[in-house]
Amino acid sequence: MMYKTLLTSLENNVLTITINRPEKLNALNKEVFTDLNNVITEIEKNPEIKSAIITGAGPKAFVAGADISEFGGLNKDEAMALAKRGQDIFLRIESCNKPIIAAVNGFALGGGCELSMACHFRIASENAKFGQPEVNLGLIPGYGGTQRLVQLIGKGNALELLMSGNMIDVTKAKELGLVNNVTTAETLLEQTRSILSVINSKAPLAVAACIKTANAVYDESTNGYDLEIKEFGNCFATEDLKEGISAFLEKRKASFKGK
Ligand code: COA
Repeated sequence: MMYKTLLTSLENNVLTITINRPEKLNALNKEVFTDLNNVITEIEKNPEIKSAIITGAGPKAFVAGADISEFGGLNKDEAMALAKRGQDIFLRIESCNKPIIAAVNGFALGGGCELSMACHFRIASENAKFGQPEVNLGLIPGYGGTQRLVQLIGKGNALELLMSGNMIDVTKAKELGLVNNVTTAETLLEQTRSILSVINSKAPLAVAACIKTANAVYDESTNGYDLEIKEFGNCFATEDLKEGISAFLEKRKASFKGK
């Protein structure tokens, strides 16, 4: 598919999505949101895609936030609608049944930090910087950031970042558990793809169930332990479980089909 604001490339079943507005540090405007919404549908529907990476174009930024130029003149209802649309799209990323990983290659501020947190985990380059600077504008995050930041780094650390608007470097982000790994800028995509090649070799339905059950921890309407029992049981109805057990007993590598 073609997108106005995204570059995409599919290689070894991994879709790399590059947000492509480097002259505006890849800020999230309406068009980027529309494209992100459509690319999630592509990930869900295309069986060739086993997982995806989201990154930013250029050497400076992953995403430097929501596009501030679209904020002027919004009334309260319009602002709420904007937040709802952003939340809905980011929730689709978080709930996607295929892994979507953020490769954070520079500034991940405001909506950029929120986008990275909606991804299943984050790998960052040494020059990455994270922050929720909305308070500098008299704002708070609106795309799930107040919730996911607390989930990922704890309430005290999250409130310090939210209330101060401070940026943190990757060393601090790693210490807080916001990023899993730190790489050089040159090796960021290669290392992210290498992690995904391991994940892509596993049983896709089991991988999907990992995402679903982990997300249930933060979903008050779902009992995560009950869901785990159900998903554990569902695995026993798959061809891939039979293949996984046979391969183990026959001392060979399993070949999973996602069935
Ligand atoms: N929305 C709209 N445009 C943005 C943007 C955003 N969130 N972040 C950066 N840009 C634009 C700048 O306006 C500038 O455009 P111009 O060349 O037409 O003037 C361009 O991207 C480059 O940014 P610039 O500020 O010149 O780069 P810098 O290296 O001096 O500073 C940042 C980088 C990230 C510190 C700075 O751009 C910044 O503070 N951005 C806003 C971050 C933010 O508050 N995000 C949360 C929004 S809710």
